[in-house]
Amino acid sequence: MKALILAGGKGTRLKPITHTIPKQLLPVANKPIMFYVLDQIREAGITDIGIIISPETGAYIREAVGDGSRWDSNITYIPQAEPKGLAHAVKTARPFLGDSTFLMFLGDNLIEGGVKSFVKEFGSHSPDALVLLKEVPDPSLFGVAELNGKGEVVHLVEKPKEPKTNLALVGIYLFTPLIHKAIAKIKPSWRGELEITDAIQKLLDMGKKVRSHILTGWWLDTGKKDDLLEANRVVLDSLLKRDVKGEIDSKSKVVGRVQIEAGAKVENSTVRGPVSIATGCQVRNSFIGPFTSIGAGTVIEDSSIGHSVILENSRIYRIERLEDSLIGTRVELRRADERFNAVKIFVGCDSSLEL
Ligand code: TTP
Repeated sequence: MKALILAGGKGTRLKPITHTIPKQLLPVANKPIMFYVLDQIREAGITDIGIIISPETGAYIREAVGDGSRWDSNITYIPQAEPKGLAHAVKTARPFLGDSTFLMFLGDNLIEGGVKSFVKEFGSHSPDALVLLKEVPDPSLFGVAELNGKGEVVHLVEKPKEPKTNLALVGIYLFTPLIHKAIAKIKPSWRGELEITDAIQKLLDMGKKVRSHILTGWWLDTGKKDDLLEANRVVLDSLLKRDVKGEIDSKSKVVGRVQIEAGAKVENSTVRGPVSIATGCQVRNSFIGPFTSIGAGTVIEDSSIGHSVILENSRIYRIERLEDSLIGTRVELRRADERFNAVKIFVGCDSSLEL
């Protein structure tokens, strides 16, 4: 079996940060989301992995992932000239996929517990496709599935105005090569994309069997700022272990599940977990936590930060309380005036703010 990771797309909803960083490389607990995807694929025993990349951000992905040796895998990069839809990405990857069965994984999605059991389930039941579903409160934002009594999918609709169920299609699918026949029969949707939902519906129309599995654990889809903060919260909460390697002075308190990498320094500060602080960070006279990740080389002084993701080499000075914020690389944020208290912010890279 092969795997296909979709790491193209536009990342419009995460602009301006996605001008300089592809959304699949945005860090969750200081590790790019796509690295978790690669970990989960490898854990399922798949080593032949294709990655769809876009002309704008492909070079960043190639540089970060390299030849795949970190995952003991072979990586094939597959350029997609334009983001014309998930099914278009599969079509573009056809020379790589050949007549293999494959696991398709959106590069900005993650599920609790990995995909190993679904790969096994696919192997033992041999359906024509297997989709993962999750009960969501707002199904009209997703592809939505209707099932029969045996848990087989009978109908799928992309972003229905009046959803018949609350079962959303998760961005992880298992396909046999029949999907290529189905994709050949579909037309672009109203938004001009070849939708994978339509291709799976086409499989159903062809009388094929689409099995489903309803997830009980978490599902993260990091399409927007708050989704990324939520992914950071969930991953810190469920996967982070205490590991303090950096330098902590005697005036500081480091409480709970906190990861501080070697080369980071904490002085006269409190860090309340779960928190991840990367190498080269300097934290002085500050309070960090909970649910916060600070990227490598970032300096924080006389500030308090919670529920936030700060990327690399940023500087934050005298911010009384920074919350629910996503801050890009090399951002400088300093308070100039005593009157302001809580600060909420979402800025891109190379910014400088004086508040
Ligand atoms: P989306 O989040 O649906 O699309 P996007 O990345 O263009 O984001 P936005 O809507 O904010 O502009 O894509 C899901 C994943 O699939 C994501 O990792 C990008 C990838 N993708 C492709 O590789 N090719 C495509 O043609 C599309 C539409 C998405």
